[in-house]
Amino acid sequence: MVNKVKWQQEWVGTTMNQKDFLTIGECTPDELMSLLDDALYMKKLQKQGVPHPYLSGKVLGLIFEKSSTRTRVSFEVGMLQLGGHAIFLSSKDIQLGRGETASDTAKVLSRYVDGLMIRTFSHTSIEEFAQSATVPVINGLTDLHHPCQVMADLLTILEHKGKFAGLKMCYVGDGNNNMAHSLIEGAVKVGMNISVACPEGYEPNEVILHQAKLASKQTGGSVIVTNNPIEAVKNADVVVTDVWTSMGMEDEHEARLQAFQAFQVNEELCQHAKKDYIFLHCLPAHRGEEVTAEIIDGNHSVVFDEAENRLHAQKAILKALMS
Ligand code: CP
Ligand code: NVA
Repeated sequence: MVNKVKWQQEWVGTTMNQKDFLTIGECTPDELMSLLDDALYMKKLQKQGVPHPYLSGKVLGLIFEKSSTRTRVSFEVGMLQLGGHAIFLSSKDIQLGRGETASDTAKVLSRYVDGLMIRTFSHTSIEEFAQSATVPVINGLTDLHHPCQVMADLLTILEHKGKFAGLKMCYVGDGNNNMAHSLIEGAVKVGMNISVACPEGYEPNEVILHQAKLASKQTGGSVIVTNNPIEAVKNADVVVTDVWTSMGMEDEHEARLQAFQAFQVNEELCQHAKKDYIFLHCLPAHRGEEVTAEIIDGNHSVVFDEAENRLHAQKAILKALMS
């Protein structure tokens, strides 16, 4: 039996100003730090085998319009550990995939469940979905953002480096994808300096970049974009990359292989980082493309800690939005 009084006394509260979790940019630095604190706290409880059923009896719907390993499993397991339940809804199986509108789907599902996570294509779709839903909506990845992944990345950096302020993060690869955008937003919100190295024509979304630069003025962080990977990696504490061809862009694969050749994270490039740098990749990875095996499987890589932290970071998000 769970000792209800005991775990309720140990509550580490995180309140969010917004109903949904769609981008990192919408959160304040305090909210992000509070979520990370709570994630660390629940990670400790879980490792110690202490029950923490903050979402007892609550149900989360998981809608996937793209493939997933980590997001699906970490949300399902996370809900179970929080005392709730998750329902996997592939768009191939539900009426959404046969043309039922996102708005009707959101309104109907809101009558059954206490929260919804969606992985979809356009970011506008999730915004429209969230507007129609009366329950919290969590972004499980859109073409523009991957905020849950970046919360896990921040948690991993905090665990390995013990701080954010003044750290240099370097992202090498597709500057215009979901990971690059959420990393830019996350890094500046917690006071890190982020350098993005990408080929010409693959620079980050201008609006996201502009807003991150504004946010950095208040946090002491910074963001720069360059076409020179060596300059970006120089003295980096954290080196990050992601696939060159994201889900939904498969038609561009050959062109991207050519465009990104000089942007592989390999031993030669990483010699320019700090001696104790850590390497992050959200996974799935393509060894021999965006990263070599010696880097992703080497001593600096913390990619499996990072993958595990999806579970802990998301439990904090779920608890903040649904309890
Ligand atoms: N990193 C990540 O989101 O993995 P999945 O695509 O497996 O969910
Ligand atoms: N940028 C990648 C991330 C996968 C988790 C994609 O969208 O495919």
